[in-house]
Amino acid sequence: MKKTILVTGGAGFIGSHLVRLMLKKYSDYKIINLDKLTYAGNLENLTDVEIFPNYEFVKGDIVDAEFVNQLFADYNFDSVIHLAAESHVDRSIEGPLEFIMTNVVGTTNLLNAAKDSWKNNFTNKLFYHVSTDEVYGSLGKEGMFLETTPYDPRSPYSASKASSDHIVRAYHHTYGMPIVISNCSNNYGSHQFPEKLIPLFINNIKNNKALPVYGKGENIRDWLWVNDHARAIDVIFHDGKNGDTYNIGGHNEWTNIDLIKVMCKVMDEKLGRPVGESENLITYVTDRAGHDMRYAIDATKLKDELGWVPSLQFEEGIRNTIEWYLENEEWMNNITSGDYESYYEQQYAKR
Ligand code: NAD
Ligand code: DAU
Repeated sequence: MKKTILVTGGAGFIGSHLVRLMLKKYSDYKIINLDKLTYAGNLENLTDVEIFPNYEFVKGDIVDAEFVNQLFADYNFDSVIHLAAESHVDRSIEGPLEFIMTNVVGTTNLLNAAKDSWKNNFTNKLFYHVSTDEVYGSLGKEGMFLETTPYDPRSPYSASKASSDHIVRAYHHTYGMPIVISNCSNNYGSHQFPEKLIPLFINNIKNNKALPVYGKGENIRDWLWVNDHARAIDVIFHDGKNGDTYNIGGHNEWTNIDLIKVMCKVMDEKLGRPVGESENLITYVTDRAGHDMRYAIDATKLKDELGWVPSLQFEEGIRNTIEWYLENEEWMNNITSGDYESYYEQQYAKR
């Protein structure tokens, strides 16, 4: 094997797409997927690739330093691609501590274990930290986030991610650890847990449930197909400059309400409903506390330096995504049984 790579959070939404890409593209890399399997982690996301001989799954918690240290001793990793995180803003508003533990303490545990295991010999080693555009704060009508935009996180989630970015950079500057960081905009695609806008609303439209639009629905997000994010991570992992940061985004801004109307229209077509019917499910509810107004990524650096551009247009991507959720009813049913219903009641009853 050319490399042994630890991917954390590989059973989650983006992590599972990355693991699939790496396994299919690099038969000479051994991929170890470490995941705690929280509510958001789902091994069903990887059933098509779990039989690959160069794949191994390990269940474990990055907050457990002893466990993490032992894992590094057992596997002698060459590189880490770190995606494990608590990732949902609404949950961070309800309970910030879990976010600090996993996103800040967990990241620091991984850095410590990597540093000890690599014994300050960093030749051909890399710690790749996957982060978010939310660390840059919230934009007004104009402008885009650049890699040089000052950090201004505003939710417990984004503050915990910003904190972890700073710690990763500190290990680079203080100990010389080779690192790269990427900050990506909102992802959409298959296998996303239905607490996030797109899969939640697809599921609600299908089941004729209310569509809880926060505030006036005027907030703007910049949507990127999840496989294009995984492609970008692959490129940055191989060709990114040591110590650098790369923004990843789709140049694809939508107000929430416009996006929701497109989803309603496509769903009406797919479900054989009169076009316009599902829009009746739109219900304006109390806004998210501290709701960031607009995110928009300038990904020029990634394009100019490493040649990455998104491969899929949004109009096609959202159609494919809707089709995937409609065709994979069992995946959705398995996920929405159990604790999901009580989370949903608790999150939305008060709005
Ligand atoms: P996700 O919530 O779908 O998956 C997170 C995964 O991490 C899950 O499989 C979960 O079980 C695992 N995990 C959580 N806590 C853990 C712990 N303590 N130890 C080990 N594993 C643990 O998240 P996602 O949307 O796939 O996001 C992945 C990464 O990408 C995160 O770091 C997130 O901040 C970042 N990101 C996400 C988006 C997006 O739009 N979803 C955009 C930019 C960046
Ligand atoms: O920008 C990258 C970030 O995108 C990632 O770092 C996060 O992990 C990811 O969860 C996502 O954060 P958002 O808060 O933007 O995503 P979410 O899907 O929760 O919400 C998208 C928009 O839709 C946001 O403006 C809030 C709104 N919304 C969301 C939900 C769940 C609603 O109006 N109603 C809802 O029920």
